Amino acid sequence: MDLGLADRTILVTGGSSGVGLATVRVLLDEGANVAACGRDAERLARAAATLDRDRLLTGACDVRDADAVRAFTERAADTFGGLDGLVNNAGQSRMKNLDESTADDWRDELELKFHGVLNPLHAARPHLAASSAPSIVNVNAVLAKQPEPRLITTSAARAGILNLSKSLATALAPEGIRVNSVCLGLIDTGQWTRRHAAAHTPQTYQDWQSHLATDRGIALGRLGRAEEAAYAIVTLLSPRASYITGTSIDVCGGVGRSIL
Ligand SMILES: NC(=O)c1ccc[n+]([C@@H]2O[C@H](COP(=O)([O-])OP(=O)(O)OC[C@H]3O[C@@H](n4cnc5c(N)ncnc54)[C@H](OP(=O)(O)O)[C@@H]3O)[C@@H](O)[C@H]2O)c1
Repeated sequence: MDLGLADRTILVTGGSSGVGLATVRVLLDEGANVAACGRDAERLARAAATLDRDRLLTGACDVRDADAVRAFTERAADTFGGLDGLVNNAGQSRMKNLDESTADDWRDELELKFHGVLNPLHAARPHLAASSAPSIVNVNAVLAKQPEPRLITTSAARAGILNLSKSLATALAPEGIRVNSVCLGLIDTGQWTRRHAAAHTPQTYQDWQSHLATDRGIALGRLGRAEEAAYAIVTLLSPRASYITGTSIDVCGGVGRSIL
């Protein structure tokens, strides 16, 4: 099936690593124009060096900075002549329980998760409204439906974003803009290599991952690959998904226990 993404323009936040980078790669393979941002310009440049750069624009910006996000979004729309999709992917999780979480942790987590969606949304909205098939995908986590006490701030923020996504789907439907979520389980990206390094375990990364998959009860017995998340994101961006809005897809290898 042709996903109908050729020559459409998609902005991906956090496009220099992991799920975001895999999404950029799949979109380029589909013939889309892609604008990708992240905070670290060198990391973006290293990622871009592995990609076909003819239809790729990169820019360093922090999604918490509304002005920087607006400037990058305008540059993307000017460069490619509009915007058809937005992937709100930038972020990271905070491994802290209730007693470890300070007021600053709560504030920082809520700021990253909420403004990381709202800043790109406000900047992209007029351009998306002018597209013939606009779509927003919010990259979320199964934590939104299945909180973990060791990730208490992230779990709560994720639940809020899932709720917000539903409201956005309703609010933006009159403009033709679809809004959906992809809820990730454990996906093998920089997040997990960093945790393995921080654990100072004698186990190899491969053995540590296998143990993690068993410990967390992942039905498929392994972590997911970044491109497995990217395929779900790209499917929701496609005009072929034109009647899908206000919903979420779990990409989690069966770790999710929720039936809703
Ligand atoms: N991997 C998982 O198991 C998993 C599970 C559930 C949810 N998620 C979520 O999925 C998304 C992608 O995760 P990943 O595993 O692919 O992570 P990753 O490999 O660490 O990549 C994160 C990306 O986001 C960028 N980023 C982080 N904070 C940013 C900010 N404030 N402004 C702009 N860019 C920012 C990073 O670049 P810079 O650092 O240079 O800014 C990088 O490009 C995240 O929102 C994450 O929380 C991941």
